[in-house]
Amino acid sequence: MKNMKIDHEIKDISLAEKGKLRIEWAEMDMPVLRQLRKRYKKEQPFKGITIGATLHVTTETANLMIALKEGGARVVLSASNPLSTQDDVAASLVKHHDISVFAIKGEDTKTYFRHLNIVLDSKPDITMDDGADLVSELHKNRREDLKRIKGGTEETTTGVIRLKAMAKDGKLEFPIVAVNDAKTKHFFDNRYGTGQSTMDGIIRATNRLISGSTFVVAGYGWCGRGLAMRAHGMGAQVIVTEVDPVKALEAVMDGFRVMPIKDASMQADFICTLTGDVNVVDVEDFKVMKDGCIVSNSGHFDVEINLKGLQTLTKERRKIRDFVEEYKLKDGRKIFVLGEGRLINLASAEGHPASVMDMSFANQAMGAEFILNNYKNLKKQVYVLGDAVDQEIAALKLKALGVSIDILSPQQKKYLSSWEEGTA
Ligand code: ADE
Repeated sequence: MKNMKIDHEIKDISLAEKGKLRIEWAEMDMPVLRQLRKRYKKEQPFKGITIGATLHVTTETANLMIALKEGGARVVLSASNPLSTQDDVAASLVKHHDISVFAIKGEDTKTYFRHLNIVLDSKPDITMDDGADLVSELHKNRREDLKRIKGGTEETTTGVIRLKAMAKDGKLEFPIVAVNDAKTKHFFDNRYGTGQSTMDGIIRATNRLISGSTFVVAGYGWCGRGLAMRAHGMGAQVIVTEVDPVKALEAVMDGFRVMPIKDASMQADFICTLTGDVNVVDVEDFKVMKDGCIVSNSGHFDVEINLKGLQTLTKERRKIRDFVEEYKLKDGRKIFVLGEGRLINLASAEGHPASVMDMSFANQAMGAEFILNNYKNLKKQVYVLGDAVDQEIAALKLKALGVSIDILSPQQKKYLSSWEEGTA
């Protein structure tokens, strides 16, 4: 569809006014990004640069795209998940900001990759990824385009794991900033963002009571910790499943029951996976699940629940509510799967709230600046922005929240840096 000055492929341009208001609502809770945007407008650090972004098309992402564009960049955006696009936001970016968007909520896999390839057709200098599909496509199918790329940024744990594996094998062809590895990203976005938005997604999809339920959290990384905390806070009896003994021990000492997923499946009213791995809920688990169990995933890819395996046990399937699929098994039990096993916080809810995406996307923007300023000297490796940037972002956030903190006295600084101090 051609419209205005830029190419785009979105659901419906008439949704733009609603999207505009929602983008403005998110902006109000993104003070750090707002400050960057102000500086970018003045300094134009991205002048002449094309940024190709594959991110969840949300109100928060819209604010990042707008900040980059005001900083001089040409921005081309596609979705990082077929179900996460907010169509009104896509429309507003096109109509009000002249940003090229190629994303439609519910697009099939073929369209998803076609859109991603249109982003690559725009000849980006910098890639911005959430899950590494853009970088992966470049390395697998568009190697002729690799030379032109100065570097990229990666948002999420799953993507960073993929990219570090590529770097380790000597296969990564340009430097990447691992946004996820910044403290001001994963301490907040993964824990409080995923915790709240996952619960929000499960509740919006089901409208079931959490209180008094048995709620199984599979995986006790930052995201799992966040969800376990919220489920507990809402009155659920929380069970954690883990493969890492240290994380499992941490869950035990945080007050949760820990057991293998098969045992947990027998007791669960809700199971949610947040592990980054495949077939975490498998056929053997479905076989012992309680009638009526509600299964969802909040990990990046839709691989954590073995839906093909579930299908082999199934007699009939139907959509019973938006984002809820009922699987009626041959033995008569029913199992409900939310959002086709795709990340439920973005499928049936709106993703993480703006206040945490503020810090994640400040890291994204500063990651892009870092690439631009340093690409000539960077290796084909995965970089972290480091403590100085975390300190700067956290200080800005605290200021915006109206929180002041103490400052070390010269004596305290000396004490901390001296090896001679000890028992008085
Ligand atoms: N990932 C999780 N929540 C998100 C949001 N609100 N916007 C963009 N990416 C996200």
